[in-house]
Amino acid sequence: MISRKEFLRRRQALMEQMEPESIAIIPSARDRLRNRDVEYPFRQDSDFFYLTGFDEPDAVAVLIPGREHGEYVLFCRERHREQEIWNGYRAGQEGAIKQFDADDAFPIADLDEILPGLIEGKSRVYYAMGRNPEFDRRVMEWVNTIRAKVRSGAVPPGEFFVLDHLLHEMRLFKSKAEIAVMERAAEISAGAHVRAMQSCRPGMYEYQLEAEYLHEFTRAGSRLPAYSSIVGGGANACILHYRENNAELKDGDLVLVDAGCELAYYASDITRTFPVNGRFSAEQRAIYDLVLEAQYAAIKAVKPGNHWNHPHEAAVKVIARGLVKLGLLNGDVDTLIKEESYRPFFMHRTGHWLGMDVHDVGDYKIGGEWRVLEAGMVLTVEPGIYIALDNEDVEARWRGIGVRIEDDVLVTGRGHKVLTSGVPKEASEIEALMASAKNIAHNQRC
Ligand code: GLY
Ligand code: MN
Ligand code: MN
Repeated sequence: MISRKEFLRRRQALMEQMEPESIAIIPSARDRLRNRDVEYPFRQDSDFFYLTGFDEPDAVAVLIPGREHGEYVLFCRERHREQEIWNGYRAGQEGAIKQFDADDAFPIADLDEILPGLIEGKSRVYYAMGRNPEFDRRVMEWVNTIRAKVRSGAVPPGEFFVLDHLLHEMRLFKSKAEIAVMERAAEISAGAHVRAMQSCRPGMYEYQLEAEYLHEFTRAGSRLPAYSSIVGGGANACILHYRENNAELKDGDLVLVDAGCELAYYASDITRTFPVNGRFSAEQRAIYDLVLEAQYAAIKAVKPGNHWNHPHEAAVKVIARGLVKLGLLNGDVDTLIKEESYRPFFMHRTGHWLGMDVHDVGDYKIGGEWRVLEAGMVLTVEPGIYIALDNEDVEARWRGIGVRIEDDVLVTGRGHKVLTSGVPKEASEIEALMASAKNIAHNQRC
């Protein structure tokens, strides 16, 4: 887990990069209604949590480098006996200082009264404009409050600066403690994929397989998945963001599962594709092995000095060549790549940054060029091949096959480390795992 010291180091590192005479304003996430009187499970905003470790709604963190009465000010809910009986514990202002290391804390209800005074006289405001229109309006109101008083000597800020530039660059590079949490999240998710492979049977429903993941995540200490799990049997695997998860898993089909847990605000993101009955058909195996070969090639390209797009280029090369070999594409491989003729089969990119958000923050290009990979970055590597049911350009035996294989990869000083290696991905290993689970189940019945 992330220590209070590390949260403090993050705030200090951010403040060191801020201009003199500046202020940063970071609002928390809000509770959101799912239906009348029922809220979605609360999930703190990643930027806010990264800097504070504070997981309550209705809070605003303010950083003011050099402020005499404390550089870190936290506005949060007041303690409230009755509210706490109904809805749970609140840290209050005393807790904000004692447990969360705020230098100064005020009730959130006093924000309009106090914040303009903190902004006044600062030349630059760091704020993530455009993410929360309601809060944007309030920030403008506070600035206007100061502007209205210029004739009595008040000085409004001259400049707004998008906080994301500094903060997201920090979040892109994972510390030792962050890597440890991400390794544990990856391990839990890998265990869930193993459990699902062991439990999968023809006749089950996709949501029943999903339940194996949810069970394993929760059992291991993760209360929620990092994103909606995708459990797509047969041709449902070809719907990239399939979410219904309500079809029967059929004998002879593959099932594609994209599921990862969130642990202590860090995501894991794994996809495995396996045969519902435990044995790949010849066509499924051919596509599977091709995706796996592409994934290995892409992972190999994850190393310091290579740029962001190298793994994708490596995957595309293998997939285009393989599709020609299987007769699914015709033509010269280089031309097919240049013309992107592989896109009807492989229409997404090979990965994304991974961290507190599944699609994590951080620039992919710098000055118009692909960014160079550096130690401490974490990314996914997830090539796939999806053959639509209505693709009349290919023989019928290939149609409806969808395969993606996704792992989480840390860039290290010398190369990379796959964080999600706890779940097999060689076709033969998957078959062996599923066969042994079947045998155990059979013996238990006899
Ligand atoms: N699970 C989301 C993704 O793979 O990008
Ligand atoms: Mn992913
Ligand atoms: Mn995924």
